[in-house]
Order: sequence, then C-alpha cells, then structure tokens
Amino acid sequence: MGLRTRIDQATLISRALWLMAVEKVETGIVFNWMSPELRSDPYPFYERLRRTDPFHRCRNADGWVLSRYTDVLAVLRDPSFSADERNHPRHPQLVARLRRAGLRDAYDADRGSMLRLDPPTHTRLRALVSKAFTPRAIERMRPRIEAILKEVLEGCAARGAIELVSELAAPLPLRVIAEMLGIPGEDHARFRALSNEVVRNIGDASSEDRRASERAGAELDAYFEPFIDERRRSPRDDLISALAAAEEGGERLKRNELLSVLTLLLVAGNETTTNLISNATLALLRNPGELELLRREPARIRPAVEELLRYDGPVQMTSRFTTADTEIAGRRLRRGEMVVLLLGSANRDPAVFPEGDRLDVTRRDVRHLGFGLGIHFCLGAQLARLEAGLALEALIGRFPRLALRPQKIAWSANPVLRGPKALFLEL
Ligand code: HEM
Repeated sequence: MGLRTRIDQATLISRALWLMAVEKVETGIVFNWMSPELRSDPYPFYERLRRTDPFHRCRNADGWVLSRYTDVLAVLRDPSFSADERNHPRHPQLVARLRRAGLRDAYDADRGSMLRLDPPTHTRLRALVSKAFTPRAIERMRPRIEAILKEVLEGCAARGAIELVSELAAPLPLRVIAEMLGIPGEDHARFRALSNEVVRNIGDASSEDRRASERAGAELDAYFEPFIDERRRSPRDDLISALAAAEEGGERLKRNELLSVLTLLLVAGNETTTNLISNATLALLRNPGELELLRREPARIRPAVEELLRYDGPVQMTSRFTTADTEIAGRRLRRGEMVVLLLGSANRDPAVFPEGDRLDVTRRDVRHLGFGLGIHFCLGAQLARLEAGLALEALIGRFPRLALRPQKIAWSANPVLRGPKALFLEL
C-alpha cells in the first residue's frame, strides 16, 4: 500500500471518529454501520432509532438515515430521488481518491450498474434485461434446483451434519445463475470466488477492497468476452445468448453495458440468496414453534418466505440522492443530499407490522421492503423466492430432527448484506 493511500486511510479514520463524536452530541445516537453489534443484531438499534430519531442526521455518512416504513417507502416510490451515486455530494472526492489509488470510477465507460442508474438509461437497460430474464426462464430452473438440492442433501444426510452456508446456501444460487447464463460446470468454483471478490466494493470499502473488486471485475470481463462473441455467432438457449440478442426500440445493449449486466446478474443474486436461505433457516431454528408449524403444514413454507424476508432480510439498506430541494416526512432536504434507507428497520416497524420483532409464519399480506420497491424492485425476486422456498421445503421435509449445533455465529463484515459466515446444523 502506497504512503499516499495510507495517509488517506488514516485521515478517513480520524475524521470518522471525530464525526461520530459530533453526531452523538447532536442526536444522542450514532449510526456506525461498521460496529460489530450492528452486524450481529441490528434490530435493537433500529428500534431505538425509529423511536427516538427516525430522521437521523449521520455526520460520518454525510446523509440522513430513515428507519420508519412510511418514510422509506415514500423515498423508494418518489421518482425525484436518484439512485445514481454521481449525485452524491461527495462523489467527486471519492473519484479523486480512487484515481490517486490507481482505481477507476464504477461509472467509467458505460460500466455503471443498472442498480445505480436513473431513467432513461435505467429504463432502457431494465427493459432489455427483462426480455432475457423472464418468469419462464426462471421457472424452467425448478427441476435443476430440486436436483441440486437432492444431490447436496444426500451427501450430507449420510454424515448427519451440514455446514449450511458453504455446502448448500452458497453453491445453490451460484450454480443456478451460472447454468442460466450458460457457463460450463467446471468454471463454477472460479465464478464463486470472483463473485465474492467483486462485491467487496459495496458500502464503505477500503482502497484494498476496491482494488480486489476491480481485479475480479476485469477477470470476469475477460472470461465473458469470448462467450459473448461465440453466442452472437451461434446463439444457444441461455441468458448470455438472449442478452446479446435482446433488442428494444431498435437498440441493443452496448458491449460494456452487456458486461455490466452479466456481472450484476452474477453477483446481485449470489450472496443475497445465500443469506436468505441461511437467515431463514436460523430464524426458524431459533423459533421452534414456527418451524414445527411449517413441518406439520408444508404448504405454508412458500408463503412463509415473505415473512422470513421481512424478519431478517439479506439486504439491510440502500441509498438515494435528492436531485432538487424537496420534502420528506415533513423535513426539508436540499438538492444533492443523501438518504440512507434502512430496509431492515422498515420491515420491523410496528406501525405496519404488529409485533414486528416476532417471527410469525402465519402473518398475512407481508408487504416487506426486502426486495426494495419502485423502479429498482429486485429483478431476481422470483428466482430468489423459488430457490429459498425449495431449499426450505427440502431441509424441513427431509430432516425431522434438524437442529442448530452449539456455536458462536460470525456475521458477514459487509454492512449492507446481512448473513452468517457459517451455520453448523445436525440433520
Ligand atoms: C433474497 C435474495 C435477494 C434479495 C434480498 C435482493 C434484494 C434486492 C434489492 C433490495 C434491490 C433494490 C436495491 C435498491 O433499490 O437500491 C435489488 C435489485 C436488484 N436485484 Fe436483487 N435481491 C435478491 C436476489 C436477486 C437475484 C437472485 C437476482 C438475479 C439473479 C437479483 C438481481 C437484481 C437486480 C438486477 C437488481 C437491480 C434492479 C434495478 O436496478 O432495476 N437479485 N435486489
């Protein structure tokens, strides 16, 4: 690490500590998204925030933190809020720091992720991707998902134990999306490693994390390039072919846009679905009455996935930026301000979900925000629901004595994506 990068990092840390002290004095509560307590159990903090300071000024993030359901919903639905990080007041500083560290901005050369773009570019990309990533293409994966689950669980049943994350929850979504894209089986392990590296730039990433993410991104591009050429010449029945051919209003995806979409599909659904399967299994094992109910009435498992997404969702937060002076929850915001939306907190808000901190698999009409809402609503929601529903049906249906081994659970270090690093179960 160069001297300049080290000075940058030391300056950032001391600045963050100072700003947290200011925030504490100003509001009595500090939103420190890197604190270990927030990773292992953010919900008591969310409860305090909703009750005492639902429109919280976070000095360190230089933005507003919204924790109540109605406020989060209002921003997600409001087209005047932007998802484009170039509208963040600190974006120019970030870009300058990246350049000093020899890194590029995620928006360079048409490589901005759809997740972080606004209309009209977002509309065009989303329409093109939706042509390839269809409900039919997803439903067609059902027998493959069942076969993968059977293969994995048969191996573990013989041992009477499983480490759920590495043996089932992580490989399943990776294999499914890789197969949908048309990536050969022998490359799946390498893809898993690269997709883990690419997401290291999410949230408050260090230069080192960003560098690793950029390296992995370049490796993924180099891998995808010949596939794109090959599928353009002789299309097959897979997503790479469908995306390469997708056309909307006479327009196709540019090459860099196509690479960006392929990377997004690969990474957006992996750690998230892994965490859904792991968080859901853990929640049920910690609430044996609910687990028992699903065991007795397996038809309830599919709808219960929505409650499990609400109760402990894989994506805890997202952000938006104001593009004009505006008002939200009776508060005035100036142009160019950031709002952090705590999806995980909105989903526990008792104003919308009575006894929100209680897991209740019979809860009806669970309008959670775990997949976001509005124009960026998760494109992979149906696939994630299918994979998690089938995984839970297989685990619950097959293992009547499923139990948690005594263990201290270590949680992901990523403040946006919540899930255990490992989960040891008796079968
Ligand atoms: C349980 C699993 C998943 C969760 C909790 C989840 C959550 C989310 C959330 C919250 C957003 C919106 C973020 C925002 O508004 O800022 C999103 C967007 C997105 N998700 Fe997912 N996701 C999951 C699985 C998947 C899968 C399996 C795929 C695809 C294979 C996928 C692809 C996408 C894409 C492409 C977007 C961007 C959509 C857009 O910008 O229009 N996700 N997801």
